[in-house]
Amino acid sequence: MTHPDTVWFTEARFGMFIHWGIYATPARGEWVMNQESIDPVDYRQRYFADFNPDLYSPVVWADLAARAGMRYAVITAKHHDGFCLFDSQFTDYKATNTRAKRDLLKPWAAAFRERGLRTGFYYSLLDWSHPEFVIDRHWGPLRDLPAEEMALRNVDRDMRRYAAYMRNQATELLTNYGDIDVMWFDFTYPNPPDPENPLGPGKGAAEWESETLVKHLRSLRPNILIDDRLGLEGGGDFISPEQFCPRACLTRNGKPALWESCQNLCGHWGYGREGTSWRDSDELIRTLVDTVSKDGNLLLNVGPNARGELCPDTVERLEDIAAWMRYHACTIHGCGSAPAEFVCPPDCRFTWHAPSRTLYVHVFAWPYKHLHLDGLRGKVRDARLLLDGSEIPLRGLGRWQMHTARNAGFGDDLLSLTLPISKPKTAVPVIALRLNE
Ligand code: GLC
Repeated sequence: MTHPDTVWFTEARFGMFIHWGIYATPARGEWVMNQESIDPVDYRQRYFADFNPDLYSPVVWADLAARAGMRYAVITAKHHDGFCLFDSQFTDYKATNTRAKRDLLKPWAAAFRERGLRTGFYYSLLDWSHPEFVIDRHWGPLRDLPAEEMALRNVDRDMRRYAAYMRNQATELLTNYGDIDVMWFDFTYPNPPDPENPLGPGKGAAEWESETLVKHLRSLRPNILIDDRLGLEGGGDFISPEQFCPRACLTRNGKPALWESCQNLCGHWGYGREGTSWRDSDELIRTLVDTVSKDGNLLLNVGPNARGELCPDTVERLEDIAAWMRYHACTIHGCGSAPAEFVCPPDCRFTWHAPSRTLYVHVFAWPYKHLHLDGLRGKVRDARLLLDGSEIPLRGLGRWQMHTARNAGFGDDLLSLTLPISKPKTAVPVIALRLNE
């Protein structure tokens, strides 16, 4: 297998996920067709031809992503509903046949690349509209059809022809849009272990013909990174925890593994007008830091609306992240987990920039006056508060406190930093420690 290019990916650490399609019109998330059991024919009638993103300007999205410190972006070329944002010769269910009247991915790829971001495509393995996709009882708007009707509708369907359709579209995606760096497939639902399970067979590597697909992708673009949702033995190039951050760095076969956690802002991925459970900006920043502290990437999702704009709640959060990144991007890009010998204090996260031997201490809960770091005495050249570049004195507890400090469990190798009393005015203050050679 050709080795994918992982260097840019670990360097980047932060990317934008974009879920956009005709489901932006019902505005109840990208699963609306399944959740409300809307027949694919009705769905198409209601939302397809009239899709009219007249305010679509990928340059605006790309600018915001770049400002927020995102270094790559992955957009839904096709989601589970089967609608394609690109001009494919293998379907008529595509942006070109809506009121947009054009391929929406071409200007997208150009805009993001122009801002220096890498680009990737999300591609749904499921397709609830494709005439060859065999309807099953697991997922999709027709999952509850009476057995007879389901059988009838499935008579002429053939997953082999569907797998060929996916390969054809993959060829289009990897040849017509410049250098694509990531293919993000979603998702596999293996057979239930119990053969009596009324849901019946699921779909996985056999149905997607995943091995052939991956070989095909690599032949077109040897360096491409592919996610781990194709159901292949051994996963993919990176692990893709969804909506959570692992507890620690991940490994595979005893070796450090590449991973990327994807998370959304408000509970679903596609645009939702009534969304009320928005995540707070500070919490999102802590999530990014937490991810990098464990050698992961964060792919943070936005769901543009039917007119092609990001809603104010989304923009506000990305601007907050941008404000933080203005001062702190250096603790994210090119950084990763700290060497195990450094013990992270409670309520903090370390990230480590190996080339400059800098340890970044992200302080999630601002302590009173001192930050105590075990094992670092004598190892630190200087400490700065990143926000304003000001000195943080390495002198810690007063001599008069040392006696009780020892009784309280502090060791002689303790380094105590003297902090300002009030929390510096930023979501997550960071102290940069330059270590001695
Ligand atoms: C899930 C959902 C999907 C979303 C994806 C993102 O698998 O099916 O709607 O695109 O997660 O990771």
